[in-house]
Amino acid sequence: MSPPLPAFLLLISIAFTSASAVPLQPGFYAETCPEAEFIVKDVMRRNMIREPRSAASSGGPDWEVKLGREDSLTASQEDANNIMPSPRANASLLMDLFESYNLSVKDMVALSGSHSIGQARCFSIVFRLYNQSGSGKPDPTIEARYKEKLNRLCPLGGDENVTGDLDATPTMFDNRYFKDLVAGRGFLNSDQTLYTFPETRKYVALFSQDQRTFFKAFVEGMIKMGDLQSGRPGEIRSNCRMVNRRPVNALLES
Ligand code: HEM
Ligand SMILES: *[C@@H]1O[C@H](CO)[C@@H](O)[C@H](O)[C@H]1NC(C)=O
Ligand SMILES: *[C@@H]1O[C@H](CO)[C@@H](O)[C@H](O)[C@H]1NC(C)=O
Ligand SMILES: *[C@@H]1O[C@H](CO)[C@@H](O)[C@H](O)[C@H]1NC(C)=O
Ligand SMILES: *[C@@H]1O[C@H](CO)[C@@H](O)[C@H](O)[C@H]1NC(C)=O
Repeated sequence: MSPPLPAFLLLISIAFTSASAVPLQPGFYAETCPEAEFIVKDVMRRNMIREPRSAASSGGPDWEVKLGREDSLTASQEDANNIMPSPRANASLLMDLFESYNLSVKDMVALSGSHSIGQARCFSIVFRLYNQSGSGKPDPTIEARYKEKLNRLCPLGGDENVTGDLDATPTMFDNRYFKDLVAGRGFLNSDQTLYTFPETRKYVALFSQDQRTFFKAFVEGMIKMGDLQSGRPGEIRSNCRMVNRRPVNALLES
């Protein structure tokens, strides 16, 4: 993936001149790097083919993605840990977390619907299979036959890197995830509590019955989440994996 040289140079020049917190917008790279959107789609497509876990991912809504987000000038494991919700979390903790980013309960439930695709490790569920909340017992909300299946997949003391599907149709983006939650067949504790907690239950029920309403709420949530900006200084990296090189005097100022 090497973009034509002039576009590449232009990208770098924006990186150095743009002020922070420029509003994100569709078509941000239309002039400076017209190939950008094609390149991203093409790389994504090729990687999807290469990665067996996403090989056949399909379905789901479309929306226009706003571009121009700036990358951080630093990396922080601590920040990442504070933001990344734990699979042990319950719906009440997740509502608070999302609310702190101005995302509503409905947004939170809809966005959790991204677990309609993909997998998670036994590591993320062994506590709920064998020792929920330190009780020494399994989570009582897991449906009996599903629990047998999870016990076989993730035996106590087994390989916690083994993965299981987040819903019964892990390559289809659909509302099956919500139907599974209603049936007590949620994989993660955080997922299942969306149905056991009263404040989130109504949205799970709604989305389980109406896929279009789920898709619409998912798109709204993705746009709201995508509009979040940290307000901290940033840059558009010329290499995603590293901060851009900068003159020594710039480093001293920042
Ligand atoms: C609501 C709070 C959320 C929690 C607690 C959560 C937690 C998790 C956990 C624990 C895993 C599996 C990690 C592992 O065991 O290796 C996972 C996987 C995944 N999450 Fe979330 N997540 C949340 C929200 C989201 C959101 C908002 C999105 C995207 C919009 C998302 C997309 C995904 C996807 C696609 C996977 C599957 C990855 C794969 O198959 O490799 N999650 N999530
Ligand atoms: C939800 O999780 C939080 C944090 O772990 C805990 O303090 C709270 O008691 C839990 N709520 C319920 C109703 O289980
Ligand atoms: C949430 O909204 C309030 C009020 O509009 C605003 O002051 C705050 O900065 C927002 N928080 C985030 C994380 O965007
Ligand atoms: C269950 O978790 C609690 C609290 O973390 C711990 O004290 C206890 O030893 C665990 N029990 C088992 C059987 O692992
Ligand atoms: C699980 O994966 C991690 C990270 O890749 C690795 O460090 C660990 O050794 C693996 N554990 C087993 C039992 O394979």
